[in-house]
Amino acid sequence: MAATPQLLTPFAAAGGITYKNRIGLAPLTRARADAVTGCVKDMHVEYYGERASSGLIFSEGAGISRRGLGWYSAPGIYTAEQVEAWKPVTAAVHKNNGLIFCQLWHMGRAGHEVLDGVGFGFHEKTAVPYSLEKARAAIAAGNPDGTTALAGNAGYTVDAAETAIAEGRADIITFGRPYISNPDLAERVRDNVPLAADPPYAHWWGSDSVEGYLTYPRATVKANA
Ligand SMILES: Cc1cc2nc3c(=O)[nH]c(=O)nc-3n(C[C@H](O)[C@H](O)[C@H](O)COP(=O)(O)O)c2cc1C
Repeated sequence: MAATPQLLTPFAAAGGITYKNRIGLAPLTRARADAVTGCVKDMHVEYYGERASSGLIFSEGAGISRRGLGWYSAPGIYTAEQVEAWKPVTAAVHKNNGLIFCQLWHMGRAGHEVLDGVGFGFHEKTAVPYSLEKARAAIAAGNPDGTTALAGNAGYTVDAAETAIAEGRADIITFGRPYISNPDLAERVRDNVPLAADPPYAHWWGSDSVEGYLTYPRATVKANA
């Protein structure tokens, strides 16, 4: 990898937002919100705050209406209480100089208030990362003033992400599973520290459990500390 990884260079997007680096946190439903109120908790504040060295955080999918839900313990953002619960999350990310975007979620025909949630499918990564050329062309066609940021995702290693940025195939690469087990993923790239292995399936979703959520240690000194 280059002495200064491309992944650590800022990206100034059309529209005025500058991302401090090209390392994104992919949206990851972790199913740990309050199952009754749909509110995120203190553990979410710590989790997202820990990952604020990412240049671009996508939140987990947040339900936009009761009828749009279909996943047990996924958060919502449609009641005043839920909105208030998200504010400390945003504040923790901003405090650490990060940016967070909320992924709004309506599960369409898979969602119904009587469902307790099996409507979401995870697809195994493919050997070849998804090509972004077509996406870039399509977005450019529909946005003559330029795109905001083109984020690549799925199955990227740090080296593959570095190559994708260097070759102009993406502006930002988001990491999903690696960000579960590497809260300091951006600092590990900075310090050339190997990533911890992807988390076991049992850690992906957890209701009230911080196990597998707040238990992966840092291996580096926190950026902006
Ligand atoms: C536990 C888990 C939860 C996920 N939740 C979401 C989600 O809420 N919204 C979404 O668009 N993608 C979701 N994904 C897909 C990830 O954003 C990402 O595309 C996928 O993990 C592939 O990237 P990776 O190979 O870096 O893990 C989820 C994936 C995992 C493993």
